[in-house]
Amino acid sequence: MSDTPAIPAASCVLVSGGSRGLGLALVERALAGGAKVAAFARTVTPELAKIAADHPEDVFVGSVDMTDNTAVGAFIKEACAKLGPLDALVNNAAVGQDSLHVHTSPERIGQIIETNLTSTLLLTRAFLRHAMAKSGKGRVVMVTSVCAQRGYAGLVSYSATKGGLDAAMRALAREMHGRFLINSVAPGFFASEMSSVLGAEQLSTITRRTPTGRLVEPDNITPIVGSLLFDDTNINGQVITVDGGGSI
Ligand SMILES: NC(=O)c1ccc[n+]([C@@H]2O[C@H](COP(=O)([O-])OP(=O)(O)OC[C@H]3O[C@@H](n4cnc5c(N)ncnc54)[C@H](OP(=O)(O)O)[C@@H]3O)[C@@H](O)[C@H]2O)c1
Repeated sequence: MSDTPAIPAASCVLVSGGSRGLGLALVERALAGGAKVAAFARTVTPELAKIAADHPEDVFVGSVDMTDNTAVGAFIKEACAKLGPLDALVNNAAVGQDSLHVHTSPERIGQIIETNLTSTLLLTRAFLRHAMAKSGKGRVVMVTSVCAQRGYAGLVSYSATKGGLDAAMRALAREMHGRFLINSVAPGFFASEMSSVLGAEQLSTITRRTPTGRLVEPDNITPIVGSLLFDDTNINGQVITVDGGGSI
């Protein structure tokens, strides 16, 4: 029997991109798990604002562009002043892509990498420095994608950022020596603003290639992220794919 205690369940979770889509569902899941929640996006939607208004003691939201490192730092400071120390981070915010690599401008490639990869690594660094100084333990979940594991046309830079996050996640899990459980959840395609660029034909092709015969829904993903935030799973440094088996 080891006398090393389990990492406690998350009590105060920061969700990036919590304004809509999967991020909004993850804010609700973290709240339902009994945690306080801080969430930001560039635009605070009425749905996110309502959650904050309904839970004034437990939810803190803000309008922050995650590529603005100073604004991210200020948000973390304000969130802690309001909710107490953060001990979990869900890196959900990202921008998508729908253009062949040869037709994607250098500026757009830079934006995708800056938002999805660089800013996520900087947010993770800021969170870990804060949490190491406070609770000393915690949990990080990266929302990545099956695009990091299989090739999808039109998603070259996006895929590079998600593969980069999966690789960084494993290295970070080593660096943290088990004091922080760090994992990725890699969804297959699900309906959202990001995937709205996919046409009916593309969606039916993906569905046909999925053994379970149906696309993923946010409700399939939130229990997995919830488990990584709250349960004593001892899962660390792993990519958990939620895609109905489409990528096997
Ligand atoms: N949809 C899919 O098929 C699919 C499949 C696999 C993985 N994923 C991943 O799942 C996660 C959620 O995707 P989703 O489909 O729910 O996307 P979505 O509806 O487009 O939501 C993305 C969220 O990120 C925020 N965001 C984007 N850029 C930001 C920035 N610079 N600063 C702060 N927040 C920013 C957005 O808010 P603002 O625009 O207001 O900033 C929004 O809250 C992403 O990591 C995505 O890569 C999605």
